[in-house]
Amino acid sequence: MSRLGKIDVVSIDDLDTSEIERVFALADGFAEGLESGGQITTASGLIMATLFYEPSTRTRLSFESAMHRLGGAVISSADMQASSAAKGESLADTVRVVSGYADLIVLRHPHDGAARVAADYAACPVLNAGDGSREHPTQTLCDLYILRKKKGHLKGLTVALCGDLKFGRTVHSLIYALARFGANIVAVPTAGMDVPDYVLQRLASERNYSFSTVTMDELKTLAGGLDALYLTPSAPHQMALFTGDEATRKIPSVEPPLALDAFYITRLQKERMTSKEINAGEYVRFDARALKTSRTQEAVVMHPLPRTGELAYELDSDPRAVYFEQAAAGVPVRMALIAWLIEKSKAAQVRARTVAEPIRFKSEAPPRCANPNCITRFEGAYLRPRFKMARSADPAILALKCDFCERELKIEYVGHARSHRFYRFDENLQGYVRQWIEEGSLAVFESVKQAEEGGYEPYKRGPQREMMRSEEVAHAIESLADQLIAEMPEMTGVSIVGVISRGAILALRLRDLIERKTGVRAPCAALDVYSPAEAVHPIDGTDNFDVEGRTIILVDDVINSGWTVQRAMATIWQRGRPAAAKLAVLIDRGHRAVPIRPNYVGKNIPTSRTERVQVRLAPSSDDSKAVSHDRVMIYSIVEPLKETEAAR
Ligand code: CP
Repeated sequence: MSRLGKIDVVSIDDLDTSEIERVFALADGFAEGLESGGQITTASGLIMATLFYEPSTRTRLSFESAMHRLGGAVISSADMQASSAAKGESLADTVRVVSGYADLIVLRHPHDGAARVAADYAACPVLNAGDGSREHPTQTLCDLYILRKKKGHLKGLTVALCGDLKFGRTVHSLIYALARFGANIVAVPTAGMDVPDYVLQRLASERNYSFSTVTMDELKTLAGGLDALYLTPSAPHQMALFTGDEATRKIPSVEPPLALDAFYITRLQKERMTSKEINAGEYVRFDARALKTSRTQEAVVMHPLPRTGELAYELDSDPRAVYFEQAAAGVPVRMALIAWLIEKSKAAQVRARTVAEPIRFKSEAPPRCANPNCITRFEGAYLRPRFKMARSADPAILALKCDFCERELKIEYVGHARSHRFYRFDENLQGYVRQWIEEGSLAVFESVKQAEEGGYEPYKRGPQREMMRSEEVAHAIESLADQLIAEMPEMTGVSIVGVISRGAILALRLRDLIERKTGVRAPCAALDVYSPAEAVHPIDGTDNFDVEGRTIILVDDVINSGWTVQRAMATIWQRGRPAAAKLAVLIDRGHRAVPIRPNYVGKNIPTSRTERVQVRLAPSSDDSKAVSHDRVMIYSIVEPLKETEAAR
């Protein structure tokens, strides 16, 4: 049982401005105390646990040093790979257990939103020491502390943030804080590494704040002595510096001439990038020349460290290079944060976190976060995706915000749980959707197919007609089995995967037919393209389903755009590398948005894009009563759908 109040610092915005000021005041005292020596007992009797799922030098060691200096104790796992995390223990279980051993947890984790999960499940306070590319609030405390010390204030400073502003979590927390303290930001991202939209949106919606983005060359010009250049939105030649939306956003005026108070350099966060992103182009290299102009000579050079090749060693002896001071501030600032936590707990000032209720969805599969690094993608066994309404500037778009990683998810189809109708979202549905959220009857879908699978009907149906009766369906399935057997000399290496739901029924029926004809019973699994955490599971009574080295027959009832097949193939490849993969479909509609051709087809039914093909299949071909259930219908949706939507 923690002796501290449940005060979590997941984001820099979990501390209000007066709390940050208090931490800085305490840090000043500790910095002096560290110099003069002497015993500090502020944290005597308290234990801090450090859980670092990613490497760290500064954050971990300065936190541990801070706790020791405060007279507290530290417990830790030297390497999380040597903890039960390596056996598959979830983050939630780990922090729940560790809360029983410690009064405070410091967590670093590779996945976006992990600190939020830890804070939700731990009984003791959780301090975020960096979660994926999202935030690193305690680094920001060190950055602000040193910046203010050097410049005397934060308000009105102009700070150029340079390098990888996409994955650099330290800059994200710093941006929120600089905006709060009234500093001007000039973003100078390396190519393709811009500040992400979700950060810009949070700034705009919560602080009505935006900033300018320029290239390094443009910054050199702006800060290099050309008095005619003004960073204001009214000068047309200046607007050319801003690309796309940036030109229309409110651009805070930076008083000319553009004198910089600080450069904040970051390294390329290679550990979060694809090889394509790593090799995308040249990275910023910052050296003493940048400080030579009249507009930069007063600037301090900051870096959260570690550095790689982006910051020249020649700068180290320059008094304007303050990055080692930032690192050194880690001890007094983190001592101050822990002391503030103790102070706050004693004063019983623990505030309840005021959060908007997440949306309760009625869909079978709630939407999943589109961010592949979101913690919900990795802790799916217990973690339900959680979304709130995002403040979309475009009323024609329904945007949700992931509660863990903050990324936006755009929703195309919405449904009403009581009427079981689905709609393509447009502006006219805004009011209805808000009402459905309030009454808990909103369902959302990624595609028409998903809505249909969930038993939802289109808002309005056009005429429908029967395309195949039960005998024809049975014949087409038999033809599929024969094609497969004719082409597969060796059925023993074959495994069958059916896309839930009708594809999975079809897969089982094909498996049974093939067994009857060849005597070989192929392993069979169902695949859910909407639930990747538990996407592939055996449906043949076995426990395991291997894809490695096997010939996979992917089975679906209808091939529409090829989108489902693409997603299914990607899921299969995540589990292992099959020797080959083939696609078998009962109905080929003949138009595809992506170049995927089925290898085996039960029947070709050319259709227009506004038509839907609906397949009904009995689970087994043995049950004569059930077989009469089989049929293929075609119907049109009256509501006009965009081409790609109708095709899915
Ligand atoms: N600045 C920072 O977070 O450094 P470490 O990764 O070494 O903790």
